[in-house]
Amino acid sequence: MKLRPVRPGDEREYAGVITSIHGDEGVDPAVLQAVWQREKRLPQNQGRYLILEGRQTCGYAFWTRPADWAAGPVKAANVNVRMIPGRQSAQDFAWILTQMETAAKSSGADVALAVAREDDDFHPGALAACGYRVDRLSRSWRLNLSDRTAELLLARSSARKDMARIGIEIRSLDDTADESIWRDLYGLAAETIPDIPSTFSEAIPSFEDWLARMHEPGVFVDRIWTAWRDDSLVAYTYLVYRAAGDVSTAYTGTRKQFRGLGIARAVKLESIGQAIELGKHSITTNNDLENAAILHINSTLGYQPLPGLVTYVKSLTS
Ligand SMILES: CC(C)(COP(=O)(O)OP(=O)(O)OC[C@H]1O[C@@H](n2cnc3c(N)ncnc32)[C@H](O)[C@@H]1OP(=O)(O)O)[C@@H](O)C(=O)NCCC(=O)NCCS
Repeated sequence: MKLRPVRPGDEREYAGVITSIHGDEGVDPAVLQAVWQREKRLPQNQGRYLILEGRQTCGYAFWTRPADWAAGPVKAANVNVRMIPGRQSAQDFAWILTQMETAAKSSGADVALAVAREDDDFHPGALAACGYRVDRLSRSWRLNLSDRTAELLLARSSARKDMARIGIEIRSLDDTADESIWRDLYGLAAETIPDIPSTFSEAIPSFEDWLARMHEPGVFVDRIWTAWRDDSLVAYTYLVYRAAGDVSTAYTGTRKQFRGLGIARAVKLESIGQAIELGKHSITTNNDLENAAILHINSTLGYQPLPGLVTYVKSLTS
């Protein structure tokens, strides 16, 4: 097997590999194109490859590091190797993963993180054999909109009344969203990202990088739901509508002093109601098992558990 760096035009092939590994993980090639385009601005921060055997594509591999490491003692990079069932080989997996680790280490990383689905027959064992140990668990969920339409729309109207009662105005953005609104949203993201339970501090993206993500295919301005007290943004959430795969929650955050008032639940219900009105049948999301508040919201909204994700960690310095 050999590695070939991805190049423009490989998006469909790469997306096809992802779906061959897990049929329920659809990926929109247009999103890959946008991500690779964005990453080209800082080519030294990642490597993405197709794994080839002769003319056959057998999988993909990557390593990525943030542009700026989070404040904290440890610099974490993401690495992974994914192989198509039937083309999996523990030996090739280990060889390719070592190359990803070496590149991550040369870019300054102290630890490597790799994510696997808990229901995958090959991947978790292959990571363990390469010296990875379990770091964190997260739950994946699906909310079936078709089964719960009436209840969810009722919950939305009741949340609207609750928010009006406490002086919170909820609205989606519109095409007139100007730089100041994007700056507000970014400020809220930067304030709340450190509160997501994690072992290694999550890096805050630069405003430019974050803004580029907010303009990737599947993100629609009028599907970003925000909560306001007077002129202050206090919470937001949005779903990503990719051309392939499920509609999924991208982010939800509430400013610290406004937590516990039902605001995240209310903005989520707006985005769920909108997805119903757009004819969508389900929404997926994934949450760290220590994120009690969001797990509680999702379970009370009727999200059903799916196979979760396991994050593995390995030191690159020992
Ligand atoms: C998760 C987050 C968005 C919740 O915002 P919020 O506006 O406080 O949420 P709500 O008030 O709508 O609901 C929180 C619910 O969790 C419950 N809750 C809070 N802490 C809890 C805990 N430790 N155990 C169980 N339930 C808890 C609250 O009681 C409330 O439920 P209730 O309305 O039935 O009483 C907010 O904590 C946040 O911004 N966290 C950082 C970013 C993040 O983790 N985002 C989610 C992943 S993208």
